Amino acid sequence: MEKFLIEGPSRLAGVVRASGAKNASLPAVAASLLTDEPLLLSGVPRVRDAHTMLALLAHLGVDGKWLDVVDGGTSLELRGCGGTPTLTAPYELVKTMRASILVLGPLLARYGQARVSLPGGCAIGVRPIDQHLAGLSAMGAEIELEHGYVEARARRLHGCDFELSTPTVTGTENLMLAATLADGTTRLRNCAREPEVSDLAELLCAMGARIEGAGTPTIEIEGRQSLAGASHAVVPDRIEVGTYLVGAAITGGDVTVEGARYEHLEALLGALHDVGAEVQRTAREIRVRSERDALRCRDVVTAPYPGFPTDLQAQFLALVTQAGGRSTICETVFENRFQHVPELCRMGASVTVDGSYARVDGPRQLEGANVMATDLRASACLVLAGLCAQGTTKVDRIYHLDRGYERMESKLQSLGARVERVR
Ligand code: UD1
Repeated sequence: MEKFLIEGPSRLAGVVRASGAKNASLPAVAASLLTDEPLLLSGVPRVRDAHTMLALLAHLGVDGKWLDVVDGGTSLELRGCGGTPTLTAPYELVKTMRASILVLGPLLARYGQARVSLPGGCAIGVRPIDQHLAGLSAMGAEIELEHGYVEARARRLHGCDFELSTPTVTGTENLMLAATLADGTTRLRNCAREPEVSDLAELLCAMGARIEGAGTPTIEIEGRQSLAGASHAVVPDRIEVGTYLVGAAITGGDVTVEGARYEHLEALLGALHDVGAEVQRTAREIRVRSERDALRCRDVVTAPYPGFPTDLQAQFLALVTQAGGRSTICETVFENRFQHVPELCRMGASVTVDGSYARVDGPRQLEGANVMATDLRASACLVLAGLCAQGTTKVDRIYHLDRGYERMESKLQSLGARVERVR
């Protein structure tokens, strides 16, 4: 199994470019099920989750091809096979990535039926899909759960007025995807407002859909008979950007992330400012500088967008181990998302967890250790901790990291980190 070997402490300094957002790419790839015409997506990061989604789409009859483009980035061309494909998303392909459930809405809307394995358990919490299913039922689908599969049928979906009980991100996206090919108008309430939802709406509109309100709690979708191909650049990955900015702060560094959208990171940038980092922003880049000795404690409560992202909680928690005073981190989105804490404590951090609260007393000098990644963002937290620790840190199971960070070691090396991938 591959590991990261990190020699600390390092000071991250320099310029790094943001990749496209993994969480915008996955629903964008699923949108290719809505048409036989080609979709050209630029900025899709070459991360494991994107490859998993492509494998699933290939199974469902969509051909994906990576194309090199002039500026050194990549584009992804997706093209349906024509005709009715297999309408089953099997367990083997779904179990490694919960976002596979995003094929349910498009398949059902376009072909009138779908059989999608229930996503497996997840390390960070229960993560039900009840709202995906309730929304599709409100659009007229008959849904049964059999042998671990969601079996959904509808001669044709119809528009409806549906209020999500919780603003789920992939739930909002699944329903939006389905509603683009439903009869009539669908009004979704209490929607997720994440930038990735707005990005998907932008793509769907480029394909000929009519969607209003994406980015607000109420989204209205007017169904169409069919959708066309389109070209779309996925939004920059705010979580990746945030991770490098926290990396600057935790190492007393000076990092500029190009291609970053500060308006998507207001909650993190406010928190970084409060811990004592200097934040500069322009339309397309963000720079963070800090002095390690000057870091101050800061409480954080995670919340759906525009609140502080749960996907940056672990990284921020690593940061406040280096800040003077007690920081309290409250995780409200997922019920089991402090698995990085025991590993951080093994490196010398002082953190106690009580339910959804983690109390962090700092600053503590971290020491290199062998640690184990448990999920995607927890892995990023351990890498950041390794960068500011004295000595060698070995982060095991970095396949979690590879799910969502594109070329992380080379980006970190370009900022001066001593990190390598070893077996
Ligand atoms: C997405 C992101 C993930 C991020 C999360 C929260 C993708 C591919 N993944 O995951 O990186 O951590 O948003 O920002 O975009 N819930 C229900 N019923 C449902 C669905 C969700 O109760 O039908 C609950 C979940 O248990 C959780 C909360 O809603 O407590 C948020 O989950 P959700 O927004 O659905 O997360 P994902 O879309 O899976």
